[in-house]
Amino acid sequence: MDHFLYRDGVLHAEDVSLLDIAASVGTPAYVYSTATLTRHFRLFDEALEGMPHLVCYAMKAASNQAILKTLAALGAGMDVVSGGEYARARAAGVPGERIVFSGVGKTEEEIRAALEGGIRQFNVESEPELLAISRIAASMGVRAPVTLRVNPDVDAKTHAKIATGKSENKFGIPIAKARAVYAEAAALPGIEVIGIDVHIGSQLTDLAPFEAAYRKVADLTAALRNDGHDIRRLDLGGGLGIPYTRSNEAPPLPTEYGALIKRTVGDLGCEVEIEPGRLIAGNAGILLSRVIYVKEGEGRRFLILDAAMNDLIRPAMYDAWHDIVPVIEPQPGHERTVYDIVGPVCESGDTFAKSREMPELKAGDLVAFRSAGAYGAVMSSEYNTRPLVPEVLVKDDHHAVIRARPSFDEIISRDTVPEWL
Ligand code: LLP
Repeated sequence: MDHFLYRDGVLHAEDVSLLDIAASVGTPAYVYSTATLTRHFRLFDEALEGMPHLVCYAMKAASNQAILKTLAALGAGMDVVSGGEYARARAAGVPGERIVFSGVGKTEEEIRAALEGGIRQFNVESEPELLAISRIAASMGVRAPVTLRVNPDVDAKTHAKIATGKSENKFGIPIAKARAVYAEAAALPGIEVIGIDVHIGSQLTDLAPFEAAYRKVADLTAALRNDGHDIRRLDLGGGLGIPYTRSNEAPPLPTEYGALIKRTVGDLGCEVEIEPGRLIAGNAGILLSRVIYVKEGEGRRFLILDAAMNDLIRPAMYDAWHDIVPVIEPQPGHERTVYDIVGPVCESGDTFAKSREMPELKAGDLVAFRSAGAYGAVMSSEYNTRPLVPEVLVKDDHHAVIRARPSFDEIISRDTVPEWL
């Protein structure tokens, strides 16, 4: 459920008309709903009620300071994957003890910054990384809290580019090697082993792969405890999918996911962490765009928008489907037509949808891409020197620009020209 609904014939974000946002901020622009962010965070938090837990929002999904502050105020921790994300989380006021650090390529500077600033745990993905963390921590006279991310060799049954839990993927330590690496970790001077981490992929619409992975984690917990390790925390990753169309089958709910967690690892006496990103932010954001032209091609009709692949890369990159709806609600009897929906960037890949049946639109009309809050603005770029797309946060009947559209001067002045030119 989200808070983007038609009211009096106009699509609103909570109580704010998207016509008003387009008029004041311009297009394209991302618009987020505070109520939806809040609702989705709470669904996870409540699904784990009764067991010690922390919901660590995977901030790679949408990392604007205002979004982080909104979630942190509800008690969220953060899952970060770079020094930049760590700095962003800290800048938003998230204390180090609520930040977990994931990712296969943590650099020495990133590890040091996290140890200096405070960190809940590193989710370690390889032996070389383990050795590096130990060396850096020992040189600072501390022990770094770590979980080892295990690769359970489970097929997440999702898009190949976002599946991470198969043995051929670059992520984690093969589960068959885990006991040996835990033994190695326990002997290192700068390491304090506290638990196990797993993350098998994103946009999972079936609970079975989670169940398979979490059962393996439960078995591994028992085996490692037998080996003498104090396994007290399980980070179960993110990945629960969202509905991208109004009509398709609904993916499992956070409550069902929570019940699965309780069923598989609930009796181990561990503190549980989860790292959802998409389900918290995805349906909490839309991309607002305007039709520039309707162009009649050879047997095709193109809807040319002012948003492009640099603003929302998911269709070009993952063949992702986003519902695209008119901001003015079509009335019964409104003509429908079939469009190829494209942006102005000079690549054929700048296509949001092919042969999409929609209510008929004309130049100047506004549309909203639904479910664009996760992996939308964060993956945008200034390709074709199109200004980085702005972001707007709505709360009840007011809205604020939380990232402004840069001017051409600002964009150009970021370049520096050597003196010999
Ligand atoms: N934890 C780890 C270690 C991850 O790698 C990810 C996502 C998450 C948590 C959050 O997963 P979520 O709950 O959002 O599914 N750009 C792609 C998605 C990439 C996901 C990468 N890792 C897309 O637009 O579909």
